[in-house]
Amino acid sequence: MDEVIQVRGLVKRYGRLAAVDGVSFTVRRGEVFGILGPNGAGKTTTLEIIEGLQPPTEGETRVLGMDTRRDHLKVKGRIGVQLQASAYFDYLTLHEILTLFGAFYPRRLPAGELLDAVGLADRARTTLKKLSGGQKQRFTVAASLVNDPEVVILDEPTTGLDPQARHNLWDLIRLIHSYGKTVVLTTHYIEEAEALCHRVAIMDDGRVVALDTPSDLLLRVERPYLVKLSTDRDLSPQEAESLRPTPDDVVAADGASCRLRVKDAPRAVGHVLDWASGSGLTLERLEVVHATLEDVFLELTGKELRD
Ligand SMILES: Nc1ncnc2c1ncn2[C@@H]1O[C@H](COP(=O)(O)OP(=O)(O)OP(=O)(O)O)[C@@H](O)[C@H]1O
Ligand SMILES: [Mg+2]
Repeated sequence: MDEVIQVRGLVKRYGRLAAVDGVSFTVRRGEVFGILGPNGAGKTTTLEIIEGLQPPTEGETRVLGMDTRRDHLKVKGRIGVQLQASAYFDYLTLHEILTLFGAFYPRRLPAGELLDAVGLADRARTTLKKLSGGQKQRFTVAASLVNDPEVVILDEPTTGLDPQARHNLWDLIRLIHSYGKTVVLTTHYIEEAEALCHRVAIMDDGRVVALDTPSDLLLRVERPYLVKLSTDRDLSPQEAESLRPTPDDVVAADGASCRLRVKDAPRAVGHVLDWASGSGLTLERLEVVHATLEDVFLELTGKELRD
């Protein structure tokens, strides 16, 4: 069984709103699969249907070959779901909570081992409310592993974390993946999808607008390089226009700064340098960056991922 999750023709309507509007995808065994999309895209709703927490209006979800509606309890025993920290008991220690949760499952991992895996072994006798935000998030991941699941589903595991805590959590997700588990996660963060996921489904308005490896998604960008430059004075519209390396490229000037979206980066840089020496302006900064999944999202939907 190479496909651990199969989603076919999924629709979820709340009154007139189609929160999920015809979504189909599969998740392969052993991959880290990301669902990337802005607020309200339908990510959580999709996950909750896969987890069997709510029924779809239409369509079908299968996990490890089982129908999530018909075999709800069997599916639950074999997946791990990250819950919100606020749902836990405030006055139990971390060790006690994990032991309690484990007791619900025939197959379970020892609390001490789980805390060790998420770097919280020294906090085993601490209560949840004494943990930092990042530690709490790591704890919720430990709790999702309590039944030694084959599939781990994490809904925005790093939202609200500072960069250091986020990187710790990325390491943790890589560790879980190295145990052979399949990981499904949602995120708003491009860097996270690029850093962690083998494949990414980009969701917007209840639909999957693209699904591929991050590198293949980037190949879809029509103008894959961004050239940023600034000069010692504001550019006139004519000057900005003359910066355009080829008719296909896009120029956006703002005062003394200019951004070019181009197909061919070396050619564009050559053009900018020639332009600068011929125009009497001084280039104060020149930078070339590659497109990100943000640009893919922008091209596919005409929207920014985060507003
Ligand atoms: N129980 C509900 N009743 C009515 N509308 C809902 C309900 N749950 C979600 N929605 C709506 O469905 C849409 C999708 O919500 P969902 O929570 O799946 O988005 P999301 O992609 O997870 O967003 P976020 O990134 O903010 O978590 C939103 O417009 C939301 O307001
Ligand atoms: Mg959500």
